[in-house]
Amino acid sequence: MREIKAGLLGFGNIGAGVVKLLHDNEELITKRLGARLVLKWIADIDIQRPRAVPHYEAMLTTNAWDVINDPEVSIIIELIGGYEPAKTFVLAALDQGKQVVTANKALLAVHGNEIFTKAEQMTVNLAYEASVGGTIPIIKTLKESLAANRFKSIMGIINGTSNFILSKMTDEKKDFEPVLREAQMLGFAEADPTFDVEGIDAAHKLTIVLSLAYDIRVDLKDIYREGITAITRQDIDFAQTLGYRIKLLAIARNRGGSIEARIHPTMIPRDELLASVNSNFNALHLSGDAADSVFLYGQGSGMMPTASAVVGDIMDIARDQLKGITCRVPGRSCLETQLREIALLPMEEVVTNYYVRFSALDKPGVLSRISGILGENNISIASVIQQGRTEGGPVPVVMITHKAREADVRKALAAVDNLEVVADKTVLIRMEDDSLP
Ligand code: HSE
Repeated sequence: MREIKAGLLGFGNIGAGVVKLLHDNEELITKRLGARLVLKWIADIDIQRPRAVPHYEAMLTTNAWDVINDPEVSIIIELIGGYEPAKTFVLAALDQGKQVVTANKALLAVHGNEIFTKAEQMTVNLAYEASVGGTIPIIKTLKESLAANRFKSIMGIINGTSNFILSKMTDEKKDFEPVLREAQMLGFAEADPTFDVEGIDAAHKLTIVLSLAYDIRVDLKDIYREGITAITRQDIDFAQTLGYRIKLLAIARNRGGSIEARIHPTMIPRDELLASVNSNFNALHLSGDAADSVFLYGQGSGMMPTASAVVGDIMDIARDQLKGITCRVPGRSCLETQLREIALLPMEEVVTNYYVRFSALDKPGVLSRISGILGENNISIASVIQQGRTEGGPVPVVMITHKAREADVRKALAAVDNLEVVADKTVLIRMEDDSLP
């Protein structure tokens, strides 16, 4: 029986999952491929630490070059994460004409142009299903199943840690810090959790999705990004009272000549599918011109779910090799030379609904001064709630606006926050609710 040899770089949580899956499902994988997939090498800086996975066939090394330079190894699996040395190893492997599988969203978001171009020049596959949404087949769906569609919009929850935190804060009335620690202990937070809670991880993933959906090269810096660290229990409670849930959403929209792309906490009606995506689950709602609505849901992180996507990629590549072909599908949506360089729509030009919470002194005339400023800035109010009374002191006044331009909202809130009757910085949370005008 034919053998295809692979080498793994990075024996961490996901690496161990890949080793375990290749071992546990070996018979099934062999049957489905009609060939044996052999993991010849495992490289990691720490090969002493015991891992509870059987890897008896693979040789362990601390030197990644043993793996990359082995002529028998045709598939390199990069699960080191981060920019370096992952970038050097991936480029070197591609340079040698090796096929590469990676889960490294940060690497692809920042150095994707160089890496995809190299893979195309060398006519080798670069597969990265595990980089966005863990086990969920997002890359393949965009690149293959829905390849004939123009995407009107894409909306999703693509960071499990922040979704876990917001879900627990909402449903269990817990505070931010202890829930973040819980997520870290469960092993789905990034090595640096600011990547999760500041929306950086989600922005990395959205960069990858944007290229696939809109045939564009995106500069990560152009994506508007706001994390969840400023979300308070008070705003979560108001959202619930108003019939919404707060989610860290990645949003992309085709705006005719340009593309809107943003990551921020968003209030969505509680009966929307995305509102019921809780804990560390991820989901993506795609809206294609032909397909209409497609909803993808699953585990966006974790050892075995992520390993499932990685091993699926390895099997795809092995199938190509067995047929003597490569690059049946391009690395991104089309050839690299066909991708457009575009500037995303500036955040100031985005038009949406807003939840705003003012800390206003409870005195006659205050509400009219605030609504006057909103009116002067073309912002019309859909509803207002004021709860509680503190004689002369500040009270939360919550307003939901009709659709308004971000630049106008920012200008109005700056003016409101300057009023002597406003005690604290106004809280703003963007909304996605088709029922609001
Ligand atoms: N830290 C990421 C998350 C892991 O929380 O979703 C998967 O990319």
